[in-house]
Amino acid sequence: MTLVTPPPIPRAAGSVPFLGHAIQLIRDNLGFIASLRTHYGPMVEITLQPGTRTLIVQDPELIRTMLTDLGPSLDKGRFFEKMGQLLGDSVVTAAGQDHVRKRRQLQPAFGRPQIARYVELMRAETDDAVDGWQPGHRLDVREAMVKLSLDMLAKTIFAGSLDDVTFRRLRDDLSVVMNGVGARVMLPDWMERVPLPVNRRFDAARDAVRATINHAVAELQESGRDTGDMLSLLLHATDEETGRPLTGHQISSEILTLAVAGTETIASVLSWALYEISRSPEIERTVLDELDTVLGDRPVTVEDLSRLPRLDRVVRETLRLHHTGWLVTRRTVTPTRLGDWSIPAGTELAYCQHALHRDPELFPDPLTFDPDRWLDDAQVGAFTPGAFLPFGAGKHKCIGDRFALTELVTAIATIVRRVRFETPPGHEVRPVAQATVRPGVLMMTVRRRNDAAERKDG
Ligand code: HEM
Repeated sequence: MTLVTPPPIPRAAGSVPFLGHAIQLIRDNLGFIASLRTHYGPMVEITLQPGTRTLIVQDPELIRTMLTDLGPSLDKGRFFEKMGQLLGDSVVTAAGQDHVRKRRQLQPAFGRPQIARYVELMRAETDDAVDGWQPGHRLDVREAMVKLSLDMLAKTIFAGSLDDVTFRRLRDDLSVVMNGVGARVMLPDWMERVPLPVNRRFDAARDAVRATINHAVAELQESGRDTGDMLSLLLHATDEETGRPLTGHQISSEILTLAVAGTETIASVLSWALYEISRSPEIERTVLDELDTVLGDRPVTVEDLSRLPRLDRVVRETLRLHHTGWLVTRRTVTPTRLGDWSIPAGTELAYCQHALHRDPELFPDPLTFDPDRWLDDAQVGAFTPGAFLPFGAGKHKCIGDRFALTELVTAIATIVRRVRFETPPGHEVRPVAQATVRPGVLMMTVRRRNDAAERKDG
């Protein structure tokens, strides 16, 4: 066997003592990460925490290997460690057997039959949201989508057990903590310990989030009610390792994880999809025609979800161009072979879906929103394997993927039939990356669609 000596992994220019690449990242994290794809090869080293190597994996095949083949042997790394400051120990931060156990506990809420039941609830929540929007007024669409996605989660996975007030209370504090998590990934650890107002705000908001969720869980534990939902599932689950019921703290961690994972992402993807549809009369007409043909005058149901290929392509293209992930991490625990390279234990590995999905070598004309790039099966089959990873891959692949797609199609189908959005001409919305990538300010004017006639007249 001939052993190939791989080229050395380059270090990205511009790192400075004590801060690493924090300055470039704070200034423009998406721009910085995207520039690495232009200047360097399959892997490049950056510094987030001085003294620790972070390798940005840029080659789709290596990313796939990292997530799937190496998945079981890697820790989750820096991003999830910072998320753990909010979430505690949960399915999203755990690795190894602990992760397998935690994931198994949540799985029943995400089965096909459950998700089929959720569609009507998701549609009802969306209708309620649209009822509340004032025609002719400007709407902060991202804000409205955060509210909607929390409402949908409250009514489906947490049906009846976590009340609206709890979810409302979580909302504002969660956004402070999530922004803080984003900053903490980029800045060296010592900056968290400096008594700055921003750190105090983070701690206060994190404590408030935990207090809200702990209180709700304790109340439910006391009441002994069985609501047949996710919370009941966790209340009645036993820890496979100890054989004992989960502690209140464990339950709170899992619930918070779902609340974060199921709203930050959905809210951003929904916002971007509505924005892109509003910008293109042609895409809007295509989607509306399909909805008119398939649904007629009735609302969307679970059976329709597989009959809306045009809307499905819009969702897929939104997940490509506007992916919410900008730094998904792992960490080697033992010396690890990745492609031709030997990576020492304790090395951080990371990849950026946002940059991957915008790579011109993987997707022609990558910055154009073009749902039709998904039209032709042969063309889609020719995309490089591992180039499109909306829900990740391997053992940590998104547990909510089917739930998410159902929610996205149901909400968009319901919204666009009732209202259309207008953005001022020439108004470009820019992505902003905190813990996840989201649209910056997205204010759009709401116009009511009166009836099918208006839909036809455009
Ligand atoms: C468009 C929406 C969504 C996107 C783009 C998305 C994306 C992802 C990705 C890329 C991962 C893998 C992270 C990794 O490799 O470590 C992930 C994991 C996860 N997602 Fe989602 N997600 C979405 C919606 C949801 C929803 C709705 C839920 C739940 C209600 C959810 C719950 C989770 C959980 C619990 C994990 C951790 C899984 C594990 O480590 O076993 N996600 N998500």
